[in-house]
Amino acid sequence: MSIAEDVLLAPFTTFKIGGPARVFIESYTEEDVDAARDEAARRALPLLPLGGGSNILVPDEGVEGLVLKIAFRDLMLEKDRDTTLLVAGAGLSWNDAVDAACALGVFGIENLAGIPGTIGGAAVQNIGAYGAELADVFEYADTVDGATGARTRIDRAHAAFGYRTSFFKEHRTHIITRVVLRLHKRASPNIGYADLAQAQEAGVPLETSAQVAHAIRAIRARKFPRDSEGGTAGSFFKNPIISPERAETLAARYAGMPVFPQENGDAKVSLAWLLDHALALRGYAVGRARLYERQPLVIVARAGATAAEIETLACDVEERVFAATGITLEREVERFGLRK
Ligand code: EPU
Repeated sequence: MSIAEDVLLAPFTTFKIGGPARVFIESYTEEDVDAARDEAARRALPLLPLGGGSNILVPDEGVEGLVLKIAFRDLMLEKDRDTTLLVAGAGLSWNDAVDAACALGVFGIENLAGIPGTIGGAAVQNIGAYGAELADVFEYADTVDGATGARTRIDRAHAAFGYRTSFFKEHRTHIITRVVLRLHKRASPNIGYADLAQAQEAGVPLETSAQVAHAIRAIRARKFPRDSEGGTAGSFFKNPIISPERAETLAARYAGMPVFPQENGDAKVSLAWLLDHALALRGYAVGRARLYERQPLVIVARAGATAAEIETLACDVEERVFAATGITLEREVERFGLRK
């Protein structure tokens, strides 16, 4: 375990933005988490777990808390007849988990290739892309309670996964230390998503999990900014889920607007499409922060951008969307240090 004071958080985030943490601890074991809890209590600071920093906005002034970087990265693959359990320390890079699964030829997370962050963060967020989500393969996660130190195993039935949400997101005192996924030997290629169907038509091989992961990374490379273009946390907002009546009214007003019916009868509408076609906001900028030209749901921060610039841009977009559609946007990216 390492402990330091006034550590700049920007390098620990994919936005490359944010001031210092009052205290910063890197943890490699559950005992380190206990030691960090004690340290936080001793200093009367909130304990703020940090994964890959790929879905957070850290304020420019930093955070008056004890940031606990989850750095356990052990990985085990346990085979049985038809499935393989992937057992990982919560700090394992999500892409390393995908690569390990693809190297073994097992299926289940290949459509989620290329998503930054850690496997622990992936479970909190229930990451999803190209027709798959983490919930599809989740078996259980082990947690340590940041307040009491209690150890709990949360299985699939209790993980309460939804669109970019989970039990872990709603119960912040549970710090995930281990994530277990159940992957499948038999091919279950999931290529219904438009971008993948197009790749298949173009002759891209999509038989093995490694081939699918490769194709997904190529698709993502066309939609997301490269490192040299600036920092990003991917989609900044969630796609709005609204009543079918409201979706119908909007679709009548904005011809061609994609609407995705949900199991419960609600409708998910594409915010990228609205920002592009209804509001013409591709490339819209505030200072050094802008909505990415090729995917306006993504905010890109040029070198030197501040959290305040991102915040101003985000509020501006929220107001414009509300004025045009009556929809109150929900953010996918969280303000770090401000917890419910
Ligand atoms: N679109 C436009 N103009 C654009 C870009 C997209 O009209 O400039 C339209 C597309 O034509 C498409 C629709 O918007 O009809 C949706 O676009 P896309 O397929 O890129 O997906 P998304 O709904 O915008 C979601 C996830 C992404 C994930 C992609 C791919 C959320 C908030 N975002 O984006 O996840 O990679 O699907 O499955 O659900 C993330 O969570 O950080 C993230 C990047």
